[in-house]
Amino acid sequence: MSTTATQVAEVASPPAILTLRAVADTDRKSEEAEPYRYAHLLPHFSQDHYPPLTPFDHVDPGRRALSHPNPRSFLDNATVVELTPSLGSEVQGVNLAKLDSDARDQLALEVARRGLVVFKDQAEFIDRGPEFYREWGRHFGRLHIHPTSGHPDGFPEIHLVYRDANSTFNFEVDDSITTTVWHSDVSYELQPPGLTTLFLLAQPTTGGDTLFTSQVSALKKLSPQFIAFLRTLKAVHSGVEQADFSRAGRRGGIVRREPVENVHPVVRVHPVTGEEALYVNRQFTRRIVGLKREESEAILRLLYDHIDKSADNQARVKWQPNTVVLWDNRVTAHSAIVDYKNSGERRHGARITPQAERPVGAEGLDLSAAA
Ligand SMILES: [Fe+2]
Repeated sequence: MSTTATQVAEVASPPAILTLRAVADTDRKSEEAEPYRYAHLLPHFSQDHYPPLTPFDHVDPGRRALSHPNPRSFLDNATVVELTPSLGSEVQGVNLAKLDSDARDQLALEVARRGLVVFKDQAEFIDRGPEFYREWGRHFGRLHIHPTSGHPDGFPEIHLVYRDANSTFNFEVDDSITTTVWHSDVSYELQPPGLTTLFLLAQPTTGGDTLFTSQVSALKKLSPQFIAFLRTLKAVHSGVEQADFSRAGRRGGIVRREPVENVHPVVRVHPVTGEEALYVNRQFTRRIVGLKREESEAILRLLYDHIDKSADNQARVKWQPNTVVLWDNRVTAHSAIVDYKNSGERRHGARITPQAERPVGAEGLDLSAAA
C-alpha cells in the first residue's frame, strides 16, 4: 500500500483510515523483514582506476538487419502500440531473453527507427543476472564503464541508478525548481553510446517515470535556414563537471577515469537510418566551437528551451514491474523524474550501455579542428 493511497483514503473516507493504515504498516514490516531480492546488485563504488578509453571500430548491429528480407520479423507474434507518431513503441509478446543474434540485430534497427521501444513482461531477462546483461550488451557494441557511478560488485559495465529512503533526493539539481535534465548519456565520450538498455529491479508504487524526446523531431521543427546553419556547427561536450561533482565527495565520491571533453557535430547523422538529429544537451554540452561566447550561449539556450518545452516530441515511460526499455542514445534525449521522495520507496535500475561510432555530422564538417 502506498503512502499516496493512504493519504487519498484519509480524505475520502474516515472510517477506512485505520484499516488502510494497518495494511500499510503490515506491508512495511514484511518489507523490512524480507531480505532485498537484488541485494547482490546494489551499487558498489570500487576504487579501481581506468586508463583513458581508446577508439575502436563500431559495427552497427542495425546495419546487418537492413539486408534481412523482413527486418521486423522478430515482432511477428507481438502486439506493438506506438506511443506517439514519431517516437516510442510499446511491445508485448516478445521475450528479449530468447532473442538470437539475428533478432537482436533487428531489434537494434527497430530502436534506431522508433528512438525508444518499451518491452513489457521481461521477468526472464531481468532474472538472468549480470553475466547475461553483459553478454546482451556486447552484441550491440563495446560496453561503456561509467567513470563515477556505482555498479554491482564485479560488474563495472553495469551502470546503476539507485535511491531509497536514506538517499539524498534531487542531489544533482538541488538548487533547481525541477528535476528534469534532458541529456544524452555520457555524450562527452569520443564514441558515445548507441543502443541502450535500462530496467528497474525495484520501483516506487508510483512516480520515477522516465521522459524521452526525439532529437530527430526536435530538429525537424526548426526552419530550413536555421538547420542549414546548425549543420555547420560543432560543440564541446564535457565530463569535467560530473567528475568534479563526485570529487567533491557526493554520490559515491569516486572518479575511476579522468574526465574528457570531445567535439561533436550539433546535427548528427544516424549511421543506419541516415536521419539527422540535434545532438546537444543541457547536461554535457558546453559551447559551440568558433562562435563568440554570447552567440554560443544564445543558440544553445534556444535549442535547450526548444527541447525542454516541446511535449509534441516527447514520450513518457511509466515503469511497471519487469519492463525493459531500449533507446537509441544518438537520436533521443531523456530525463529522470525524481518525484517519489515522500514515498520512502526504493528505485533501483540497471543500464547496459554499449558505445557506438564517433558522431558523424553533415558532409564536409571537419571535426578534427581544436575546440
Ligand atoms: Fe541518462
